[in-house]
Amino acid sequence: MLTSAQKQNKGKNKQSNIVVVYSWLGAVLHQVFATFQQFISKAERGDNMKQQRTKTAASAAALSLGILGVSGALGLVACTHSAQTAQPAQTNTIDAPAAPRMSQLPAIVNPAENPGTPEKVALGKQLFFDKRMSGNGEMSCESCHYRHLGWADGNKLSKKSDGSLNTRHTPTMYNVGFLTSWYWDGRAATLEGNNRAAWKGQLGADPVKVSAALAAIPGYAAQFQAVFGEAPNEMNVGKALAAYLRTKNSGDSPWDRYEKGDKAAVSADAKAGFELFIGKGRCVICHTTGIYTNSEFYNIGLEANKEKKDLGRFNVSKKVEDTSAFKVPTLRSVGISAPYFHDGSVASLEEAVKYMANGGNDDPNKTPILVKTGMTDGEIKTIVAFLETLTSDEKFVRPDLPK
Ligand code: HEC
Ligand code: HEC
Repeated sequence: MLTSAQKQNKGKNKQSNIVVVYSWLGAVLHQVFATFQQFISKAERGDNMKQQRTKTAASAAALSLGILGVSGALGLVACTHSAQTAQPAQTNTIDAPAAPRMSQLPAIVNPAENPGTPEKVALGKQLFFDKRMSGNGEMSCESCHYRHLGWADGNKLSKKSDGSLNTRHTPTMYNVGFLTSWYWDGRAATLEGNNRAAWKGQLGADPVKVSAALAAIPGYAAQFQAVFGEAPNEMNVGKALAAYLRTKNSGDSPWDRYEKGDKAAVSADAKAGFELFIGKGRCVICHTTGIYTNSEFYNIGLEANKEKKDLGRFNVSKKVEDTSAFKVPTLRSVGISAPYFHDGSVASLEEAVKYMANGGNDDPNKTPILVKTGMTDGEIKTIVAFLETLTSDEKFVRPDLPK
């Protein structure tokens, strides 16, 4: 598991790479960064951990804002970036994102202990859609993670295989390979571990029994031998599912195509919405572009008025300031994964954006980063228009299940 310090370093490394590429922008970035940090630290409490997080968030945001500021001021951006060199010179930050806006999804990194070979991915895909994976043969992973619902399920809360109700809303599977911890409270340290837990908890599977049943299906027996050199078991099922999930990336959306130079890919409203998202709305502080999450946890006030509160991240970290804090979700493909938030309490994207823009409910543990932004209804609608352009439309083919 990555410690918080390691996470910080990871973030810093990424940022320092960017700073190297744009070293000539250094002075300006530094200025914006300093101003932004000053602004943030005013709202901060004394806790060191929180400051660290806030600084990471602030620096990511400052970096985005800095690059924007510079491109606006200079009127053109001549930076060369390996993926961007073929683009024509651009002149204006709304119409023409010539400066890399850092929105492109990064390349996925498979962990050394679980390389993502095509054969393993194909096996994991079959397992994900196969009801024979569950204790009673009636449920697969797909039963709550549907492609057409953004790999979520459209319900506020969903019933597990044993009939009991989940206490949290089903999140998307898009881009889970980029996260640094899993579940709304980050209690799973690896994607493999999360999958094993979901197999047992959601599908009600006894891994020994179901593995034996899978081994009796010749198509599976042969594939497990070829991929892992052994029969199915709890560990390799978790690995195959993880290898498959790491390919579920929502990265080719109209917004991505727009950033790559297809000016007609999105509406004027969407472009204006992006500016609000990274500017007045302050959304980018936590929903950092790229994956549109910084993988951190914040209390945004959703448990405030509940009698029995979900303590969220506190259950994992035991830190008071993590009380009812939940992971920042990716916003890629968010347009199709209603309802929203860890409790599924908000039915529409517009309502969700409104809640965020209004700074959330009052709560003693609410993060000071989330504030009332004074956004008008019209501005909220333009942010929604932007978020809707983050829905990818990659090809999806259901797998044939082995016999
Ligand atoms: C009955 C509904 C249901 C089924 C079936 C189900 N899940 Fe989930 N899944 C959920 C819910 C609810 C959560 C969030 C739980 C939490 O955060 O406490 C979740 C979370 C996850 C996450 C974490 C995502 C993140 O953003 O951190 C992964 C990965 C995942 N499920 C994979 C699977 C796999 C693999 C299967 C099949 C073995 C599966 N799920 C079956 C409901 C389901
Ligand atoms: C302090 C960090 C922070 C800021 C700033 C922030 N968000 Fe969020 N956002 C979160 C967290 C954390 C959640 C999930 C919280 C939960 O469910 O308890 C979330 C959830 C969401 C969701 C629901 C997604 C889903 O799949 O359920 C949307 C939509 C959203 N934010 C949009 C925005 C917009 C638009 C802005 C700017 C107006 C914004 N956020 C600003 C942290 C932030």
